[in-house]
Amino acid sequence: MTTVDLPLLPLGRGTDLDTERGVECPGDLPPASDPNLVERARVAKEKLGERLFILGHHYQRDEVIQFADVTGDSFKLAREAAARPEAEYIVFCGVHFMAESADILTSDEQTVILPDLAAGCSMADMARLGQVEDAWDALADAGVGDVVVPITYMNSSADIKAFCGRHGGAVCTSSNAEVALRWAYEQHGPDTKVLFFPDQHLGRNTAVLQLGLSLDDCVVWNPLLPNGGLTTEELRAARIILWKGHCSVHGRFSPDVIDELRAKDPEINILVHPECTHEVVLKADLIGSTEFIIDTIRKAPAGSSWAIGTELNLVKRLAQAHPDLSISFLDRNVCYCSTMNRIDLPHLVRTLESLVAGQVLNVIDVDDDTEHWAKVALDRMLALPAKAPADD
Ligand code: 13P
Ligand code: SF4
Repeated sequence: MTTVDLPLLPLGRGTDLDTERGVECPGDLPPASDPNLVERARVAKEKLGERLFILGHHYQRDEVIQFADVTGDSFKLAREAAARPEAEYIVFCGVHFMAESADILTSDEQTVILPDLAAGCSMADMARLGQVEDAWDALADAGVGDVVVPITYMNSSADIKAFCGRHGGAVCTSSNAEVALRWAYEQHGPDTKVLFFPDQHLGRNTAVLQLGLSLDDCVVWNPLLPNGGLTTEELRAARIILWKGHCSVHGRFSPDVIDELRAKDPEINILVHPECTHEVVLKADLIGSTEFIIDTIRKAPAGSSWAIGTELNLVKRLAQAHPDLSISFLDRNVCYCSTMNRIDLPHLVRTLESLVAGQVLNVIDVDDDTEHWAKVALDRMLALPAKAPADD
């Protein structure tokens, strides 16, 4: 392996996978508090000018978000990337599946970069293509394969999105899961079933609270058990087959804390993301996507009090931006998303300075076939109405 002499930050071995491009990881991460890093990022960004577009997911650290040209949820960011054809380099400060979606929706002339390739998503990793294919085969064996529509949450790998594209399904996000499920149930008449992955909680919350299905209509497919842990009769009777996946952050909020908070402050508003468990969502006042949470707080009356169940970086920023509100994090035992937090200022500086030096690190490049079918599933989602008729 060739070592290229570049003005790179001393990153720890194993944090980046740049060997294909001939760059060896030269050391440990410096502390993020290094005051020079802010200036170095600013200078490198300025040098790259219009050639660079930095996207920052709402859950990113402050030290990174300050350099984002646009912030948003995963879906908004992918669209923003697609709307910037003049940008040669899209640096995605988020996690792997988001960078893949940006690569799928941008042109071949644009390069999507993830500053740390180890920034994955534990939820997305809970549904692997081979496992999903096994579930699909089991549904066919149960005699219901012809009426199943696969719907995958945006938080899934590109090959899972492509699976949905190939099999008449679609992608959804936390903002349009209801619309996507209603569309799915129109595909094969009253017998239609949905296979929903990877987040069982988003699937259950949407099916039960927005579509009016019962908990008995839902079964959970455990990919680690033979036949998903389900009998053929259970598969035949189910209206929605939920993948046994969850978010390691949102899945940890607890309904008990909501009771405690309400006992202390009966006026408190509980606002949570639909990746939280059904028990938490049932006790909340308002449920919605990251963008919905931001919008709700923006419109909240001065003096009102809120406990928010979503990623801590975002909740802290909301609290700072709205000093006229009382905003708290919903649970003292839930921590930051560890993979989102892998993108830190040292990684961003290294990415930008490498680009200035002509080295493109950590490229996310989805293969053509996967890209084609994943785009089919994404385009089906884009063709859906923005809101369910019942919401109007
Ligand atoms: P959104 O960005 O779609 O709100 O998803 C939440 C999340 O957990 C992202 O990783
Ligand atoms: Fe994945 Fe949850 Fe982290 Fe989002 S917050 S990246 S869903 S683990």
